[in-house]
Amino acid sequence: MTAANAAGKFVTLEGIEGAGKSSLVTAIVGALERAGHVVCATREPGGTTLAERVRQIVLEPGPETISATTETLLMFAARGIHLDNRIRPALAAGEWVVCDRFTDATRAYQGAGRGVSHGLIEALASSIHGDLQPDLTLLVDVPVELGLARARQRQQVADRIEAQTVAFFTRVRSCYLALAAADAKRYRVLDGTQSLEQVRAAAERAVLELAATQRGLPT
Ligand code: TMP
Repeated sequence: MTAANAAGKFVTLEGIEGAGKSSLVTAIVGALERAGHVVCATREPGGTTLAERVRQIVLEPGPETISATTETLLMFAARGIHLDNRIRPALAAGEWVVCDRFTDATRAYQGAGRGVSHGLIEALASSIHGDLQPDLTLLVDVPVELGLARARQRQQVADRIEAQTVAFFTRVRSCYLALAAADAKRYRVLDGTQSLEQVRAAAERAVLELAATQRGLPT
């Protein structure tokens, strides 16, 4: 099954730290609700009580080492819990799911950023949700320096991933842009350097276009 077969759609947001995607979730949810849809807004890693505990394990800085492969497994463990307990039930009930990050984040951060093999990531993706892919992914793109400056302004203590280098985030950003270029049907790239109002308007337009397509209306 894909979300496209259900009444609700599966929308994901992606981007490097400081891209501004989290504030877009609220705007998108508002636009969909005003259009009469029931929306489940969620995030990864996390989105359920148990998956949020995995988030804490994988992101909180601490004395123990977590290898890139183990980090990948933890991201997919959190995702499996999230899919079983929140995403799939919401889609089955006909709700829209708007998720702040999903498997593209693993491709970009663990794959391009940390060097985990494409083969391992795709094998895990296919095993955990091979039957379910996002209908639309909004990639909020910003230059790395701008994103990191925004993220540091907002948060004093960096988590294990925020503490990575500019080179790491440059690889993450390039991977996101390459994924978007390879699948123009699923992705919409939003220019995160524009004003918040402009980015919000573009994001809302993209999800409302998807909703209109679902009803067979011209976009
Ligand atoms: P957030 O700051 O957008 O909530 O994301 C949490 C961090 O987790 C962010 O640095 C990106 C990272 N992450 C991964 O590295 N791999 C993943 O699969 C996901 C979902 C997030």
